[in-house]
Amino acid sequence: TANPDTATDAYDLVIVSNRLPVDRVVDESGEASWRPSPGGLVAALEPMMRSQDGIWIGWAGVADEEIEPFEAGDINIRPVMLTEQDLQEYYEGFSNDTLWPLYHDVIAQPSYHREWWETYVKVNRRFADAAAEVAAQGAVVWVHDYQLQLVPAMLREVRPDLVIGFFNHIPFPPYGIYSQLPWRRQIIDGLLGADVIGFQRVADAGNFSRAVRRLKGYETRGPIIEVPIDTDDPASGSHRHVTTDRRGGLVRTVLARAFPISIDADQYQDLARRPEIQARAREIRQELGNPQTVMLGVDRLDYTKGIGHRLKAFGELLAEGRLNAEEVTLVQVASPSRERVETYRQLRDEIELTVGRINGDYGSLGHTAVAYLHHGYPREEMVALYLAADVMLVTALRDGMNLVAKEYVATRIDEDGVLVLSEFTGASDELRQALLINPHDIEGLKETILQAVAMPKRDRTRRMRALRRKVLTNDVARWSASFLDALTRSAHGDHPLQNP
Ligand code: F6P
Repeated sequence: TANPDTATDAYDLVIVSNRLPVDRVVDESGEASWRPSPGGLVAALEPMMRSQDGIWIGWAGVADEEIEPFEAGDINIRPVMLTEQDLQEYYEGFSNDTLWPLYHDVIAQPSYHREWWETYVKVNRRFADAAAEVAAQGAVVWVHDYQLQLVPAMLREVRPDLVIGFFNHIPFPPYGIYSQLPWRRQIIDGLLGADVIGFQRVADAGNFSRAVRRLKGYETRGPIIEVPIDTDDPASGSHRHVTTDRRGGLVRTVLARAFPISIDADQYQDLARRPEIQARAREIRQELGNPQTVMLGVDRLDYTKGIGHRLKAFGELLAEGRLNAEEVTLVQVASPSRERVETYRQLRDEIELTVGRINGDYGSLGHTAVAYLHHGYPREEMVALYLAADVMLVTALRDGMNLVAKEYVATRIDEDGVLVLSEFTGASDELRQALLINPHDIEGLKETILQAVAMPKRDRTRRMRALRRKVLTNDVARWSASFLDALTRSAHGDHPLQNP
């Protein structure tokens, strides 16, 4: 139900992300409705949005539609409009064809276009203005992800009273890579508008601090960055945690630290306990022809996920007769993503060619080697798939966190199943008892896949039990609470330096 009054209210907690927790979908008859948008952010922030008087600012997933503020399942929503040109230049262009490949270690070549940058600035300003408009005096504003890196400074400029947090869901690259960006200083300035900047890994926070030192010459002390204050600026008097640096100059301090994100682990456990989902898991194995081993890959169809490397390893094991398609099936769920970006189109062609070749060479009428699914599925079906999978393959070449790895672990209430996990994911910092792999090392990956397939039950249980302890303790509620705690403490002039 639309609530036009919402825009004039003032909120104590404002979440800003490119995508809203709900996507607008228009069916063939032109009827519009809302469905939950993909991603774990909603589950992470929903409980706290309900308990506080919050509002969520973001894009509704369709171009050129002005949508009035409304309420979706108790959450106040304030849509930001993107035109078709904004979509092409800010979202598909600068966000997903410049920043995305750059921040993922240039696995694909980033494109640098000045018009895309200009649109990125313009759209970031629009998000910042929307947040400035609805935030109450002294409110907490939490900005999310690489699409909105300029928002913190833009917001601070117009509303120095706000407590501003930023969380980067994807990696932050090493300086040698980051420094390619023609607008590298502007992005750093944009982020430093925040009081607290969160990263997935300790290494990401370190990369960021180094970029700050190299590009701005600011001092850093552990996770604290000292940003000089321009005393001519009329807003300079309203800064929090102002202190003096070693030379006696006035600085404000910014905390840049790791806050590894997680999932709602209980929700996955609860689904895994449901008899109909367990029945569905058995049915999936039957539909696959009851192979001895089911291996599973679940990814957005993205070149960062290492799907090609995984298929190469699997194909070679079949070719060498070390695995047999009568006995082992690989289920690959590749959910459609960013389909108008050329690199993603090419990737889809490559992956589908490879799947076709493997199935043509090694499949039979009764047994498909790779069951390839280019779809997104509801959570219930994903949990059934996780329960059905003996081996979960996460072979990303670079990934901020990789929540799929955590979902698999949370689902395995039977303490069974083997997780093969790339060391290039944020998740590998915590999930040390997985079988860790370097996806570039195809021989190593093949050996590890064989090890996973043959692992005795006792070892599987021992590893899974340890993994589950991690995922069940460090869940998403803890993640959002610890970030917000750091932000609130920062509002009182105190920066928590350690992970809680
Ligand atoms: O965390 C990475 C991220 O880009 C999110 O910002 C985003 O919502 C999700 O992956 C899916 O991507 P997109 O919103 O481009 O479909």
